[in-house]
Amino acid sequence: MNRFSRIGNRLGIDIGSSQVRIYTGEKIILEEASCAAVDNVNGMVLGYGTDALVRSHSYRERCHLEWAVHNGVMSDYNITKGMLRYFINKAVRHAVSRPHVMASVSCELSSVVRHALVDALMHGGAQKVSLISSPAAAAIGGGVVLDLPEAVLSVVIGRDVTDVGIYCCGGKVYEKSVAFGGHNIDEEIYRFLQEDYNILVGMEQAERLKREWISVVHTGENRTFTVRGRRMSDGVEIIIELAEHHLLPLMQRILLPVSRLIKNVLQKATPEIAEDLMKNGMVLSGGTARLPGLSDWISAQIGIPVFVSDKPDCVVAKGCYLALSHIRELPLLVEAGEKYYGGIS
Ligand SMILES: Nc1ncnc2c1ncn2[C@@H]1O[C@H](COP(=O)(O)OP(=O)(O)O)[C@@H](O)[C@H]1O
Ligand SMILES: [Mg+2]
Repeated sequence: MNRFSRIGNRLGIDIGSSQVRIYTGEKIILEEASCAAVDNVNGMVLGYGTDALVRSHSYRERCHLEWAVHNGVMSDYNITKGMLRYFINKAVRHAVSRPHVMASVSCELSSVVRHALVDALMHGGAQKVSLISSPAAAAIGGGVVLDLPEAVLSVVIGRDVTDVGIYCCGGKVYEKSVAFGGHNIDEEIYRFLQEDYNILVGMEQAERLKREWISVVHTGENRTFTVRGRRMSDGVEIIIELAEHHLLPLMQRILLPVSRLIKNVLQKATPEIAEDLMKNGMVLSGGTARLPGLSDWISAQIGIPVFVSDKPDCVVAKGCYLALSHIRELPLLVEAGEKYYGGIS
């Protein structure tokens, strides 16, 4: 690559609770865990992202992981700032100037948190920062045109937040979010196995079960899967076999907050908007959108067609980048970071 390449001058960044994704040009150029490895004794940061995961596995007794974002909100300013600086530097290694960054934010983020995020991105190496809500970015990244007079419904389900937005004529009609995501599903599976089957598994195994085996609707395949863990009563390692129907009612109960939130948002829509949505359906994105059967189940619950974006976990970052490339056409959806930021002192 040319040493003075302009690639990297515009970055779309999705700062999620589990992953930070950076998109520029035509692809995701960085995808790393949104965490830092912190020394247990002196509190020094030993590494960020993938490096932090490796360190925490290699030196378990020396350091622990701290995650930068919880429920869509930055949980530690200094860690987030350091992490963003590290990621932005990695992403724009060959650029001559600092990048203009478009970052996605959860719908109901307060202005105080937006201010802190813009500040962290500016200190992290951005020249200019703009913000866009994550369902709007996901719709744009999924190829939906938002400036038509037809309403669009976009839902993003990430690790611990679900964001819902209705957009029309290039502006926001209504947005709402709820603290629910894939991690809540992992926790419920973990608890279910403990309470109903007396077996203790790790959270990582609960997540793997969800990713590899679990469906939200009947697949008709009568699949069974084995779970390995420790018997709660005596700690002995045991293996149990579960069938799809053992977990279906649990999955459908766990996911009720999502359908309730979408129904709640739909109730705010005028009859004209509701008619558009019935016709055009809903776009579903975020990593949890990969859950088999989720789109069918939501569609049955809310009575409108649901389409899952291509690469649902990457569309938010892609949409941020595309919004940045068409920033003049989206004045009602993009928020200028200058509103929050006075400059680096
Ligand atoms: N194939 C899959 N099936 C079910 N859930 C998945 C799958 N792949 C990822 N996930 C879940 O998606 C969530 C992460 O989604 P993501 O959009 O990356 O979140 P965030 O933006 O909050 O970091 C995690 O809870 C993860 O378990
Ligand atoms: Mg995300």
